Amino acid sequence: MNTKKKLVVLTGAGISAESGLRTFRGNDGMWEHENIEDVCTPEALRRNPKRVKDFYNFLRKGLPDHQPNAAHFALVELEKKLGDEFLLVTQNVDDLHERAGSKRVLHMHGSLNSLVCKKNPNHRFEFMGEETMETRCPLCGASTRPDIVFFGEQPLYMDEIQKALQECEEFVYIGTSSVVYPAAGFKSYAKSCGAKVTCLNLELPEGDPYTDVAIPGKATEIVPKWVAEFCK
Ligand code: APR
Repeated sequence: MNTKKKLVVLTGAGISAESGLRTFRGNDGMWEHENIEDVCTPEALRRNPKRVKDFYNFLRKGLPDHQPNAAHFALVELEKKLGDEFLLVTQNVDDLHERAGSKRVLHMHGSLNSLVCKKNPNHRFEFMGEETMETRCPLCGASTRPDIVFFGEQPLYMDEIQKALQECEEFVYIGTSSVVYPAAGFKSYAKSCGAKVTCLNLELPEGDPYTDVAIPGKATEIVPKWVAEFCK
């Protein structure tokens, strides 16, 4: 199997915005409505696990009300065309890439549709319901936590992502404010390894030394166009 990646795409909340999901920052963003310290840190989980679980239960329950959009579907076309030479990395915890048809997606910040065992963090299992204080890991019976990478925790799949960034010809980041590390550092890393760096976003980074091509606009408009061009 060819493991060398031609193209690595990183997505953020902006790709799901037109599906009706809140982004995190900016006007009416998630972090205007919730305190990070209450729902997205290891301390919050220790202090008030029910509050944290209820927050992600609420988000999980809302997922079926949102449908993948043209940008998610366009990335499926890229996977079909490039196969193993394409890697999709998302910071999003929603399931819209999968529901659009993407098969190989790395959720570096975790996923709403799974839980993690508190005792054995490599016990990760699909979960669609409501997590309570009584929910148990089906593999070992220990208690569980949301499969969400909290601030201060190590994102998932970093070895695989780093290797792909080292080897790719092009790195494209879509719908992300590029302020949360390590994802925010992918563009400079890919660039230093020789990749072309492209940004597709509503707002463009100003004077960013790592971005070669920057295309402004709504994801549902610019992503399908960019994909069609790439696949020509
Ligand atoms: N099309 C394209 N881009 C859009 C759209 C749209 N329709 N709507 C918003 N955007 C852009 C915004 O301009 C912004 O740059 O998407 C970006 C969203 O930024 P954030 O809300 O910061 O989301 P993201 O970058 O994914 O956040 C990273 O922060 O709190 C954490 O863990 C959370 O994974 C998340 C991480």
